[in-house]
Amino acid sequence: MSEWIGLDQIDETAEFLCSRLPFRPFVGLILGSGLGEIAESVLEPTTVPFREIPNWPRSTVEGHKGQLVLGELEGQRVLVSQGRVHYYEGYSMAQVAFPVRVMQRLGVRVLIVTNAAGAVNPEFEPGDLMLITDHINLVGMAGLTPLRGANLDELGPRFPDMSQAYDRELCEFARQAALEHGIRLREGVYICLAGPSFETPADLRFLRLIGADAVGMSTVPEVTAARHGGMRVLGLSGISNKANLDGSTVTTHEEVLRAGQMIVPQMSRILRGVLRRLAFP
Ligand code: HPA
Repeated sequence: MSEWIGLDQIDETAEFLCSRLPFRPFVGLILGSGLGEIAESVLEPTTVPFREIPNWPRSTVEGHKGQLVLGELEGQRVLVSQGRVHYYEGYSMAQVAFPVRVMQRLGVRVLIVTNAAGAVNPEFEPGDLMLITDHINLVGMAGLTPLRGANLDELGPRFPDMSQAYDRELCEFARQAALEHGIRLREGVYICLAGPSFETPADLRFLRLIGADAVGMSTVPEVTAARHGGMRVLGLSGISNKANLDGSTVTTHEEVLRAGQMIVPQMSRILRGVLRRLAFP
């Protein structure tokens, strides 16, 4: 797969999936590190391993299962990606966003993205859930965006609006679902770095200064492509570790995966609450 992706590749993959899936999805769900379990509640699932899907980028990171699951969840037709790829794995940003492009061609109009993230806001604790109300596209500002290159006019405009990247109504559904289940839902700004090294204390002080509440290595390229394609987006971060602002603690991937698993039940309840409200408003 080349760095640049054309509509022909996207449609080749979409057509393959159409031949394997019994129906078209309306909601796309991307599950981040340690959060893959959420796909297990999908009813009458049809699964397709990433390795069988032409052009599909394959994750090399532990904690990502590597398959698509189509089925029904809370009355919605959902397509769940158990895992994602990241820029630091060596993929281009266009490749990172490829699954979102395919979802768009399959008919997905609502994209829900989840991730594990480090707390930058000092009030956040590991195990917290954060509703992403906005993001800082730091790597995008430096040129790393899936929209670089010839614009795919069939998918969206050359200069897409980003004034409301995270859909207000979907955010409200998430707040209602959290309230209903007595879950404390934090809110804030997610910032995407290229990774894979975690941040230095000075990096983290900088990120806090420029307005970030949580930091991770994913999500923003996918959301950029989704908004380009006119999808409505909801984003949820599972806070896996505290920012190490003074250099006194160490962050590890194992810690991130463990926290992800801890967050699964609450993340599931919120996702299901949002889907229910979407299906039966
Ligand atoms: N930094 C960057 N990405 C992350 C972190 C972090 O602390 N935790 C989980 N993903």
